[in-house]
Amino acid sequence: MNFPILNQKINKNRLVYLDNAATTQKPIEVITAIKEFYEKDNANVHRGLHELSLRSSIQYEDAHKTIAEFINANEEEIIFTSGTTESINLLANSFEQILKPNDEIIVTEMEHHSNFVPWQQLAIRNKLKLKIIPIKEDLSLDLEAAKKLITKKTKMVAVTHISNVLGTINPIKEIIKLAHQNNALTIIDAAQSISHLKINVKNLDCDFLAFSGHKMFGPTGIGVLFGKKHLLDKLPPSKFGGGMIKEVTTKHSTWNDLPWKFEAGTPNISGAIGLTKAIEFINKMGINNIEKHNNELTKYAISKLKTLKNIKIYSTKNQGPLISFTLKDIHPHDVSEILNIDGIATRAGNHCAMPLMTKLKIQGTNRISFQIYNTKEDIDILIKALTKVQEVFK
Ligand SMILES: Cc1ncc(COP(=O)(O)O)c(C=O)c1O
Repeated sequence: MNFPILNQKINKNRLVYLDNAATTQKPIEVITAIKEFYEKDNANVHRGLHELSLRSSIQYEDAHKTIAEFINANEEEIIFTSGTTESINLLANSFEQILKPNDEIIVTEMEHHSNFVPWQQLAIRNKLKLKIIPIKEDLSLDLEAAKKLITKKTKMVAVTHISNVLGTINPIKEIIKLAHQNNALTIIDAAQSISHLKINVKNLDCDFLAFSGHKMFGPTGIGVLFGKKHLLDKLPPSKFGGGMIKEVTTKHSTWNDLPWKFEAGTPNISGAIGLTKAIEFINKMGINNIEKHNNELTKYAISKLKTLKNIKIYSTKNQGPLISFTLKDIHPHDVSEILNIDGIATRAGNHCAMPLMTKLKIQGTNRISFQIYNTKEDIDILIKALTKVQEVFK
C-alpha cells in the first residue's frame, strides 16, 4: 500500500489524515494510471478512427464494466457523472418531467445537502410534498415514522446509506422494501459507504445508487449514478449535447443507448480510468478487510475519546467509519485549527447537513473519519492533541 501524500510532515509533524469522509487519499496505482493516460493514450472517446481514440474509448468503456462488477450491476446501468452531487441532481432533474403535483418524495433528517436540496427544489418546482423521516434520540432513523410516512403517494425515497455526520449505518434494505411495498422508487446515497461496505445493488434491490470516486481512493470529478435498466430506459435525459443522441433533425432528437443517453459531452476519461484503478486497489485490499480495519479503529477511537472530559460524542449503535464530537465551550473550528498545528487533519462545521444540525440544536461538530492507512497510533496522537486543545482553552 503506497499513498505518497502521507509521507510528508505538516508543521514538522507526521501528517495524520483523519478527514477521509471528505475525501480519501490516492494510492500510487491511481496517480500513475492518470499520468500514463495523458502521457500515452489521451484522445477523445466515442471511438474516433485513430489509434489513440480507440485506446481511450476502450479504457473508458471498460471502466463502466469494472464499476458494474464492483456493485453487481450491468454495464449499461453505470452512468458516469462528476460525483454524488451530480448523480442526484441528474436524477432529480430527469424526474421533473415525471412527477406531478401532490406526489410525495421522502428524505431523511440526516441527509447531506446533496441528497436533500435537489429533492427540495424539485418539490418546489413541481408542487410536490417533501416528507422527512426523523432521527431518534439514539441517532438512528425512526423506522416506525418511516412506515407511516411512506405511502402509496410516495414516488421516491432518498436515503443515505451512512450518515456523513453521525456515522449511522441505515437499514437501507428494509427501507427499500418498504418503498417497494408502496410502489415507490429508491435512491441510495452511497457516498460514505462505497469504500467501506460491500454493496450489491441486485441484493439490495435499490432502484438508483449514487457515489463519488474521490471518496473511494479515486480522483475528484468522477462519480457514478447506478439505475436499474428498465427505469433508465424510461427516464428522459436532463442533460443534452454530444454523445447522448442517436439522431438529430432540425425538429427533434432521439437518444442514444444506455448509458450514453445520460452522458452528454466529453466525459472525464482520465477520472474513469483512475476510478478503475481505485476499484482494483479496493479489490486487492478486500472490502471486508477495509470494513474490519475501519470498524476496529472506530471502536478504538470511541473508547479513547470517552476518556476525555467535557466531550460529547455522537456515536450510535450501528456506526460507520466516522465520528462526530464536540468539546464543551470550544468552537469546532478552533479545535480543528489547533489540531492542524500538530499535523492532524480533521473536519469541523455543519458537514453540509444543516437540517440535522438544527435537529441536534448545534452549529457544528468536529469529525474524524478513517481509512485503511490509518492506525491506532493516529488516534493516540489525536487524543493527546485534543487534551492539549482543552488545556489551551481552560
Ligand atoms: C453522504 C454524502 N452525500 C453526498 C456527498 C457529496 O459528495 P460529492 O461532493 O463528492 O458530490 C457527500 C460528501 O461529503 C456525502 O458525505
